[in-house]
Amino acid sequence: MKVTVVGAGAVGASCAEYIAIKNFASEVVLLDIKEGYAEGKAMDLMQCASLNGFDTKITGTTNDYSKTANSDVCVITSGIPRKPGMTREELIGINAGIVKTVASNLIQHSPDTILIVVSNPMDTMTYLAHKATGLPKHKIIGMGGALDSARFKYRLAEALEAPISDVDGMVIGGHSDTGMVPLTRLATRNSVPVSAFLSEERLNQVKEDTKVGGATLTKLLGTSAWYAPGAAVSSMVQAIGCDQKKMFPCSVMLDGEYGLKDICIGVPAIIGKNGVEKIVEIELSNDEKEQIKNSAEGVQGTNALLDV
Ligand code: LAC
Repeated sequence: MKVTVVGAGAVGASCAEYIAIKNFASEVVLLDIKEGYAEGKAMDLMQCASLNGFDTKITGTTNDYSKTANSDVCVITSGIPRKPGMTREELIGINAGIVKTVASNLIQHSPDTILIVVSNPMDTMTYLAHKATGLPKHKIIGMGGALDSARFKYRLAEALEAPISDVDGMVIGGHSDTGMVPLTRLATRNSVPVSAFLSEERLNQVKEDTKVGGATLTKLLGTSAWYAPGAAVSSMVQAIGCDQKKMFPCSVMLDGEYGLKDICIGVPAIIGKNGVEKIVEIELSNDEKEQIKNSAEGVQGTNALLDV
């Protein structure tokens, strides 16, 4: 499969690196607007091929979209990342224009592609990509839930003093500090509900730490994180490329599911060769329904700032 990653910054490069290391794609094109930058990152990554044992061919281009033609999957990471103290929503002014242009350029050269949107505010940028391209709704997916769920599992494992491989859990809702809904009720350690091991107070702490997972890293790093976002995207690209039919919480266009319409927000979905193959509706508690409703109101408020 051919994958394009737009934005050769930390998230884009990390995403290209993990895709290559997993060795399922024949080709990755990195595209950036900064002269020579994507070419440099691609060359550096290609010099890892013999060391890390991959055959994926990585090339870079400075804004030449003809090089991205006929990509099976295109990932949009472009735009500015947040600085410490900023919310993801504050990025909308600059990132909306960038995402709109990038999405349109990509579709011109790869009309049948599946788009994965990473740029923030992610749920709103995914919604914008739908409006800007008119692609069928199963072909645009926002990456947030896979990352937030990975952070949730990290925090659960920490609280349980367990290996992460023992832990399962999922975060739905908007990809924002206030919008995430970590489903502690359904999280398990080897099928045993985590509430059997952790007090309600400790679980609430896990939930709060998960919601500010990105902000915590932004404060430590001075910019937003890249390893886990890159790994999360690469897992989604692999699910499409290898038709894995894997279930990820991700930002998808809803049409009545979860009582919501005309909004992209994180819900569980089956991801395979056609993109979003099914939206999975799970039974939520009244409290969780309320949290999703509030989260959707937040996303809708940000969507209202778009000029679409
Ligand atoms: C984060 C960014 C990618 O959560 O939104 O790290």
